Amino acid sequence: MITKEDLKRDILVLGLGPGDHVVVHTSLSKVGRIDGGPEALLQAFLDVLGPEGTILVPTFTYSFSGRPGTAPFDRWHTPGSRTGIFTEAVRTHPNAHRSAHPTHSVAAVGGRAKEFTEGHESVSALGIGSPMYKAAEAGGYILLVGVTHNRNSSIHVGEVLANAPYLREHFCEAWKRTARVVREDGRIEEIPLHPEVPGCSAGFDIIDVPLRKRGVIKDGRIGNADAMLMKGLEMFAVVREVLEKHPAFLLCDNVGCDVCTRRKTVTGAAVARKQMRRS
Ligand SMILES: CC(C)(COP(=O)(O)OP(=O)(O)OC[C@H]1O[C@@H](n2cnc3c(N)ncnc32)[C@H](O)[C@@H]1OP(=O)(O)O)[C@@H](O)C(=O)NCCC(=O)NCCS
Ligand SMILES: [Zn+2]
Repeated sequence: MITKEDLKRDILVLGLGPGDHVVVHTSLSKVGRIDGGPEALLQAFLDVLGPEGTILVPTFTYSFSGRPGTAPFDRWHTPGSRTGIFTEAVRTHPNAHRSAHPTHSVAAVGGRAKEFTEGHESVSALGIGSPMYKAAEAGGYILLVGVTHNRNSSIHVGEVLANAPYLREHFCEAWKRTARVVREDGRIEEIPLHPEVPGCSAGFDIIDVPLRKRGVIKDGRIGNADAMLMKGLEMFAVVREVLEKHPAFLLCDNVGCDVCTRRKTVTGAAVARKQMRRS
């Protein structure tokens, strides 16, 4: 059985310490059986980060109007969909703040949790001004626990900073540019979303090579899980560098992936326009 003290030691060995901010993506089954469950892992982070540090996790609900089977987003009650049991421990912590973004909300606990999560509903889901952007701007880290870069949502922020040509191609054409949300008084409203939308992340593991070449990744372990720690701003710089050279670098090669196929077409046209202007 893994204890909170074991986890604290692992987090410290990776390089996190008091006052740090960190976005965490986790597969808890890879960590192993924890005495005290996901709450003990959260407490280990809070002990290491101290009162001035902040932990952030995705509690994405993908509550796009037109997405089959989607309930309206209720900031106070809707759990994250597919972001793991650890994110529930963070979301339901008594000191947690959760952003009000109806499709890509983020939950956070710690010194700057309120500041990082507020205003998210007015900006692009994973763009400038989003919690993951703010945490990186504050010198924060990204930590992948038992998962790889295809779960590293901050890479989408890097796509926005690189001004990738495909940001307005939606994940699924049937999903609307609006979301249904539950207001504090229980009313359900349909609200417009920012035109830039995060796409597919299935191809993101390809970034591992350039990140390692630039020395951005620190490898370690959390319990039995492999873990990778990186600074958000350093990661953004590598994303910008690779997209400048190869704008379609992060799009997946799955022939059945509708969004990446559409995004590649848009990218090809943008590259051709750029070449014409140069010649
Ligand atoms: C999808 C995903 C969450 C699945 O991972 P997972 O390990 O199977 O699921 P969870 O992280 O929810 O952990 C569940 C495990 O926690 C453990 N667990 C549950 N309750 C526990 C408790 N009280 N005490 C100790 N361990 C417990 C169990 O091992 C459980 O696995 P089991 O049901 O097979 O026994 C993971 O692959 C992933 O993608 N994580 C990152 C998500 C993310 O950040 N996405 C961003 C957008 S792409
Ligand atoms: Zn894809």
